[in-house]
Amino acid sequence: MINIGVIGYGYWGPNLVRNFSELSGVTVAGVADLNPKRLDMVQKRYPGVSTTTQFQDLLADPSIDAIAVATPVSTHFELGMAVLKAGKHLWLEKPMTETSLQAQKLAEEAEKRKLVLIVDHTFIYTGAVRKIGELIKSGDIGRINYYDSTRINLGLFQHDVSVISDLAVHDFSILDYLLGEQPVAVSAVGTNHFPGTPENMAFITLFYNSGMIAHTNVNWMAPVKVRQILIGGNQKMVVYDDLEPSEKIKVYDKGISFTDDPQQIYEMRVGYRTGDMWAPQLDSTEALRAEGEHFIECIENGNTPLTNCSMGIRVVRLIEAATRSMNERGRSVEINGTYIHQGRRVA
Ligand SMILES: NC(=O)c1ccc[n+]([C@@H]2O[C@H](COP(=O)([O-])OP(=O)(O)OC[C@H]3O[C@@H](n4cnc5c(N)ncnc54)[C@H](O)[C@@H]3O)[C@@H](O)[C@H]2O)c1
Repeated sequence: MINIGVIGYGYWGPNLVRNFSELSGVTVAGVADLNPKRLDMVQKRYPGVSTTTQFQDLLADPSIDAIAVATPVSTHFELGMAVLKAGKHLWLEKPMTETSLQAQKLAEEAEKRKLVLIVDHTFIYTGAVRKIGELIKSGDIGRINYYDSTRINLGLFQHDVSVISDLAVHDFSILDYLLGEQPVAVSAVGTNHFPGTPENMAFITLFYNSGMIAHTNVNWMAPVKVRQILIGGNQKMVVYDDLEPSEKIKVYDKGISFTDDPQQIYEMRVGYRTGDMWAPQLDSTEALRAEGEHFIECIENGNTPLTNCSMGIRVVRLIEAATRSMNERGRSVEINGTYIHQGRRVA
């Protein structure tokens, strides 16, 4: 039996408590939130779960094996470090931390203490993303030419982080999971329409050495909700619409081919292929449930989670680089932190 505590019962925390409490072999032992009204909600829904406004109470409870932190990003480092120093396994919400240095320190602490640290990049545990991963791995899609994502709606304005940290983070983790390649540079533009608040819309382009290009359009001020990703391979193309109730993924046997045959030099050199479309069957298990089971299995067997510290750190580095580029109106920023300006590196 694994006992779990949860810190933060705002918007996302309730999803964690619900999923953990439905897992067999797991007990939600306690929930901490600074806001007593949120704790009243826990008491009503889960009368057996103890509540506290002091997260330290969960750290001091020797029966608790693991703690999930679902508080604002600005608190992730401090709370995450306190959890690890208390000797408990850590479930940390995305993005892992505000800075990559903080993420690195958490990773080192978890490693030193042999504790499991999972970063909740939830999309990686969806049936849809797992299926796309399988299709890419099997070679069905062919070489990936592009990834183009639209993630817009009349979104919850966050006070501590920009739309990049809130929404583009999902694309950064999905790309990390799907591709065997890391981006080398990023260019981002974005703006805040309300002075003194974080950027509420951004257009981000990631560049890869292979020629693959990825783009995401993230926006909290759109009149309609769109959650759509296009993946263009040279064999097949995938459309992933996360708002579709059943057929979330459609695979199109469409593409183009060029000929460099000198005999055809005066003819049309591009050929179009328009074949069938199919919608593969997906595992409909709720992602947080699958992720919760995976977390428990990692604790029990000492395994490294799929969404581990390394992925968490890479995603935070991308957020940092994209934010730096956005602050410079789209100047190309190398992922290692240096600028590329007019083809030259600028420190
Ligand atoms: N994985 C996902 O898809 C997903 C989706 C939404 C949010 N999130 C992440 O979850 C985290 C929380 O987001 P949210 O939208 O629920 O925020 P929120 O502001 O709605 O809730 C945060 C809660 O944490 C509490 N809190 C803050 N500091 C605390 C402390 N020191 N001790 C105890 N409680 C404290 C607040 O009182 C609040 O109730 C963020 O990191 C966010 O990025 C992840």
